[in-house]
Amino acid sequence: MTETGTGPLDNLRLIGAGGTNKVMAGELMRLCRRAFDDVRLPEPKKHGTGALIYPFEPRVAKLAALYHRTSVRVLWDVLETRAARLEPLFADVLAIAKQNAPRYLWDGARLSVYAHGVEAFAAGERQVVGTVKNALIEAAADSGMQVTLDPETPNIIFAVRLSEGVVRVSVDLAGRPMNQRGYRSERGVAPLREDLAAVLLMLARYDARRDILIDPFSGTGTIAIEAACMAKALPVWVSPRRALVCDMPAFAGLPPSGADALFADTEPCIVAADADPDLADVTLRAAGRAGVADSLIVLTSDMRELGPGRIRELTAERAAGRETGLFLGNPPYGERIGDDDELDALYADLGDLCSRFSGFRAAFLVANRNFERAFGMQPAIKKPLNNGPLPAYFYLYEIP
Ligand SMILES: C[S@@+](CC[C@H](N)C(=O)[O-])C[C@H]1O[C@@H](n2cnc3c(N)ncnc32)[C@H](O)[C@@H]1O
Repeated sequence: MTETGTGPLDNLRLIGAGGTNKVMAGELMRLCRRAFDDVRLPEPKKHGTGALIYPFEPRVAKLAALYHRTSVRVLWDVLETRAARLEPLFADVLAIAKQNAPRYLWDGARLSVYAHGVEAFAAGERQVVGTVKNALIEAAADSGMQVTLDPETPNIIFAVRLSEGVVRVSVDLAGRPMNQRGYRSERGVAPLREDLAAVLLMLARYDARRDILIDPFSGTGTIAIEAACMAKALPVWVSPRRALVCDMPAFAGLPPSGADALFADTEPCIVAADADPDLADVTLRAAGRAGVADSLIVLTSDMRELGPGRIRELTAERAAGRETGLFLGNPPYGERIGDDDELDALYADLGDLCSRFSGFRAAFLVANRNFERAFGMQPAIKKPLNNGPLPAYFYLYEIP
């Protein structure tokens, strides 16, 4: 314990977009069941609506940093302090890290530190970063480890966050935001963030063994690619991208290796369609990099052409045994089409299309308040869910 009344921590923290706690927990539970026979995941504590905290278990932490698709950061919290100025911050981090640094640092480690949300601290972000960095290096030296600062090629990255007067220092186990999977190299008109696509699939209860999945506004294919990756539980990272956790001594030799899909045998049936003829190739290239091109049926089509007959035809070879399906997408919301009447007509046509798929579900993320009325059905679920900076709603419809 330090003068400011705080001390070492040992937590796994999953950070996601606001409103995603339930799906993040659900996804981790599913991954754990598949990866380990002997891990019982406790109920997480929640911090706000987009952060889950578990007691630290190195295999679960490694699993999350390698496979968890609905989170944005996977962190190992190692210490916290209520220090409000730089001097006590240095003293506290040094004192605590002297006790526990050998758990997460090692001789020869090259560290980097970033800060997030420290605007309310009594010193600038760079000073906070520099202070934590100096204290960690000094604490490591105290344990006989030589650790250097290396922002260009670090092999361990620390995150410093300030929340409710507490400065928390964590190891960023992936070393980058989880949504930067590495399969996307071209930008579409309005690509959905990868973690949000995964969240939508969880909220819509996508079941790859039971559902045909249709994204009628697939753009660059984010939802379709994430669906295929989730169906197979592929590692998040696409080579040459690699999570730092793989090379940290604290996790050496622990499963999983991150090389394999956890549900390799699942063969999903996924249709990705968009009216823009340039985007089919973009989708296929990204799907190829993600290793799921063979799982997708990618086409250029106006969504109005995707009636039951066309979908039956497209999926005939792959739909085996699938009686139900899910429409899932984020339709245009107005920034580009600009014309409200045209958009209302598009949403109404989408409602008509979906109503022809009895027994299916349809789910959309939309940042346009006319959508619900124009679409015309009563949603079973309506949940606020921001699309980046845009306030939006997630709608789920059960089609009678
Ligand atoms: C918001 S973007 C979807 C982005 C996509 N989720 C992604 O991750 O790249 C909406 C997409 O709808 C497509 N679109 C607009 N009108 C359409 C229509 N009538 N039929 C099919 N696609 C349409 C646009 O070309 C655009 O790619």
